[in-house]
Amino acid sequence: MLESKKKMAQSFSDLKVALEKGKGDPKEIFSIFEQGCREFTQETKKLPPERIKPFLDLVQRMRKEIEQGDRAGLLERIEEMKRLKKICHEAYK
Ligand code: HEM
Repeated sequence: MLESKKKMAQSFSDLKVALEKGKGDPKEIFSIFEQGCREFTQETKKLPPERIKPFLDLVQRMRKEIEQGDRAGLLERIEEMKRLKKICHEAYK
């Protein structure tokens, strides 16, 4: 499996734990997820170019919500990321 994907999977799971149980710093964990997402778009050969911008835009929205402490927004964005993940995995994985 791609290293970037291991990073994405672990940090996304850690982020949920941080938000739900207050275990760990969401900002720090999110930075790892963000990094993983960027590395992934450079590492994979399976993602069509037109899929990359909407994906990174979503990551960018999550970054803003984290910065603003917008917990409700972030939780919504996490659900959105899960939906996009499902769409992408069904289409390209
Ligand atoms: C939190 C969100 C996501 C997580 C945790 C995640 C996790 C993973 C994991 C663990 C794999 C490894 C392969 C496997 O399981 O068989 C994978 C592969 C892949 N994912 Fe995701 N994914 C996420 C979101 C996305 C999104 C949003 C996209 C599209 C924009 C995407 C596109 C892909 C593709 C194309 C592969 C195949 C990569 C390759 O082999 O080059 N994923 N993902």
